[in-house]
Amino acid sequence: MKTQVAIIGAGPSGLLLGQLLHRCGIDNVILERQTPQYVLGRIRAGVLEHGLVNLMREAGVSAHMDEHGLEHDGFTLAFQGRCHRVDMKALTGKSVLVYGQTEVTRDLMAARQASGAPVYYEAADVQPHGFLDGKPRVTFTHQGKPMTLECDYIAGCDGFHGVSRKSVPQERIRHFERVYPFGWLGLLSDTPPIEDELVYVNNPRGFALCSMRSPTRSRYYLQCSLAEQVQDWSDDRFWTELATRLPEDIAGKLVTGPSIEKSIAPLRSFVAEPMKFGNLFLVGDAAHIVPPTGAKGLNLASSDVYTLYHALRGALLDGRADLLERYSEICLRRVWKAERFSWWMTTLLHTFDDDPFGRRIQRAEQDYYTSTRAGLTTIAENYVGLPYEAVI
Ligand code: APR
Ligand code: PHB
Repeated sequence: MKTQVAIIGAGPSGLLLGQLLHRCGIDNVILERQTPQYVLGRIRAGVLEHGLVNLMREAGVSAHMDEHGLEHDGFTLAFQGRCHRVDMKALTGKSVLVYGQTEVTRDLMAARQASGAPVYYEAADVQPHGFLDGKPRVTFTHQGKPMTLECDYIAGCDGFHGVSRKSVPQERIRHFERVYPFGWLGLLSDTPPIEDELVYVNNPRGFALCSMRSPTRSRYYLQCSLAEQVQDWSDDRFWTELATRLPEDIAGKLVTGPSIEKSIAPLRSFVAEPMKFGNLFLVGDAAHIVPPTGAKGLNLASSDVYTLYHALRGALLDGRADLLERYSEICLRRVWKAERFSWWMTTLLHTFDDDPFGRRIQRAEQDYYTSTRAGLTTIAENYVGLPYEAVI
């Protein structure tokens, strides 16, 4: 088998890159180790920056998103007994679109199937080779049959636990990491959202987030200890703790109901440098992880895809191989700004133990950033998404 671009992973990164490349005539094959149902079963964040919205439209997969996505002009920060609305539209002229990652993935999967471009689900033992000696290829097993995919380039879109980053010789890659001393307990319910916009809460008992998927489906999160087990959290216990952490006037609007999903996720900041190794390019979660507080995971993957898509077009259609050499430099400039914002939002809104000085600094940060136009604008422009760097 031969293709121009071998894509490992059929999450949002791999599917979006595959769709964009297919539409401009660049052959690509996607290799995914799980089933489509398994991939769609993952519950992830659902706030799309305008850059991702535009990319979905450029990829021709935005019809359902444009019909069902919820445009949000602002969100609320609640702490120290006060609520502050961050008016993104007034401060930056931009908004975000609330639309679940599951829906993004479903839309991209449907487009892939409609295009007839090849995707191998349940591809086992996927392994990139030869990306450092100019002979890139990917081996895998499909339906018990060993396969070899010859290619010009390999896009490692296989997430944090994927094979691509782990295939890079250790001496060629650096990891930067911060693990947070708490997790997020998430609950999905078919109940109406508590407010029209998202509400982020810092309470002495811990962080809480009120989000949504649609006017009838809500997503809530509670900061929890890493020792917690999801089976120890009944729906009633969750709803009671959530109501306790929310400002009273907001808690009074809470509509509870049976959970349709509950899970605990750890929080981590992680970046691998560089993101290019010969003909192998790390994309999205394969290269970096952010704590979900800033809703940047999917959006950072999208800006990597944008950069790689344009660099591959340059190399394969316009004779500009130099653009690929700049992939890592361009991506990492935006990655680290999103890492900073996600880290900062996490430190601003979570409760840390045994750190009296840190708690006073946190309160000063909360006061300063919500009491000046400059502070609110800083939050707003990072939340709506910093500009994508042109690939020229
Ligand atoms: N071989 C083939 N596929 C693999 C392998 C492998 N060895 N390892 C992982 N995969 C697949 C996973 O099954 C998954 O479907 O790669 C895909 C990676 O998808 P994601 O983890 O969703 O990463 P990405 O596409 O970069 O999307 C980033 O997803 O995890 C969230 O918060 C993150 O919102 C962000 C988004
Ligand atoms: C979500 O809706 O799942 C969500 C929204 C905003 C975040 C994190 C998660 O910052």
